[in-house]
Amino acid sequence: MRISVIGTGYLGATHAACMAELGFEVMGLDIDPAKIEALSQGVLPFHEPGLPELLRKHVATGRLRFTTSYEEVGAWADVHFIGVGTPQRAGEHAADLRFVHAAARSLAENISKDALIVGKSTVPVGTARSLVDVIRRHSDPSVRIGLAWNPEFLREGFAVQDTLAPDRIVFGVDDPADESVLRAVYARALENETPLIVTDFETAELVKVAANAFLATKISFINAFSEITETVGGDIRTLADAIGHDARIGRRFLNAGVGFGGGCLPKDIRALRARASELGLDQSMRFLAEVDQINLRRRDRVVHLAENMLGELAGKQVAILGVAFKPDSDDVRDSPALDVAVRLYNAGADVRVYDPKANHNAAGRFPRLDYVDSLEAACSGADLVVLLTEWREFRELTPEDLGPLTEGRRLIDARNVLDAEAWEAAGWQFVSLGSKYTPAREPVRSAAP
Ligand code: UDX
Repeated sequence: MRISVIGTGYLGATHAACMAELGFEVMGLDIDPAKIEALSQGVLPFHEPGLPELLRKHVATGRLRFTTSYEEVGAWADVHFIGVGTPQRAGEHAADLRFVHAAARSLAENISKDALIVGKSTVPVGTARSLVDVIRRHSDPSVRIGLAWNPEFLREGFAVQDTLAPDRIVFGVDDPADESVLRAVYARALENETPLIVTDFETAELVKVAANAFLATKISFINAFSEITETVGGDIRTLADAIGHDARIGRRFLNAGVGFGGGCLPKDIRALRARASELGLDQSMRFLAEVDQINLRRRDRVVHLAENMLGELAGKQVAILGVAFKPDSDDVRDSPALDVAVRLYNAGADVRVYDPKANHNAAGRFPRLDYVDSLEAACSGADLVVLLTEWREFRELTPEDLGPLTEGRRLIDARNVLDAEAWEAAGWQFVSLGSKYTPAREPVRSAAP
């Protein structure tokens, strides 16, 4: 079986390389010739652990190739996965389906043998059904083209693992013939007893957005409790541990902090609300507006804490540790960390940013921040250190690492990963999100060298 993957961004490139790893012949298609050129040479344009190795391996074996030609994939592949982006529409909350529609139409126009189109992109419910018509109108009637929806749940930083060994597989199908093709594609995972849910288009589309809405809600839930412990005292991590022991709740995704960002959760909850409104069901998803607001207030909180700790931001030196939206990723889309860094800069602070992988992408968006290439360079002489993305090298920081570098021993742990007691014992003014802010009695200065 030959497989094409339309769209070689984050999702598509990962899916294409993993399908080659499973033994299929794969062709990745993108309309961006520069991306195709890079991928053809085994160069991945973003950071994802384990993926560059897979890409290079299968470009070398010849099992994985890339093209910009729909005609080529239309004549060649048996199964076409659509993995193009569905960004937030400019100035609106709804998803922009332009790329999905264009991909389905171009495939329909160019497929010259019986084939199955499989949507993987995250789409508003009802999209697959509307594509049946697009495909019918633009294809050769003598060719049978099936359609299925097979949502993708991969997380950045774990994309290869999540694709090769998913928690579950979902097929949205209209015709049993299409289900058997998908079973053949996923044979390896199914042999390993990965749960399989075979359902209709609508349920398959909704599974993805429901999962992301639930995860976002879980994060905002604990962050809302963070607002309470910040006011009355209490420890948010202990609270999360204690409720997380209840198997019905579970501890994962209860890490309070500066909140969620990235290319999925924020846009997906907004698009879901927009879709619910279109369906006349505004009330059903209204709670997601609150989830979004709680999340955005976390960023305000960090900026306010910085102001409180420094008195005046203008002229103060602030070290920002991490700008990626999460560790093990170079993605800064809707990154809470980058947002906070920019707001501190706009308030007059002299902001120095260090991220192990995301500096380059952040600089592409906000060139005015001072990006440096080491923790030492960021923290040296800093009046305040703000930990915003919990990369391992930041999680393992001790007061001894930073003490000699900084000017004022002040630290905001906006991801709740450091040991507050150790930092306080070393004389730091230490604040984490979820703990009560207590102003220092005297200005804190670092010890003379
Ligand atoms: C998410 C979904 O997890 C994935 O299934 C879907 O396919 C795409 O969207 P991703 O965006 O890669 O994946 O990141 P994820 O690990 O879910 O984290 C999302 C955001 O939530 C990050 O900014 C992270 O820092 C934040 N987060 C996560 C918290 O603030 N607290 C937590 O407890 C967990």
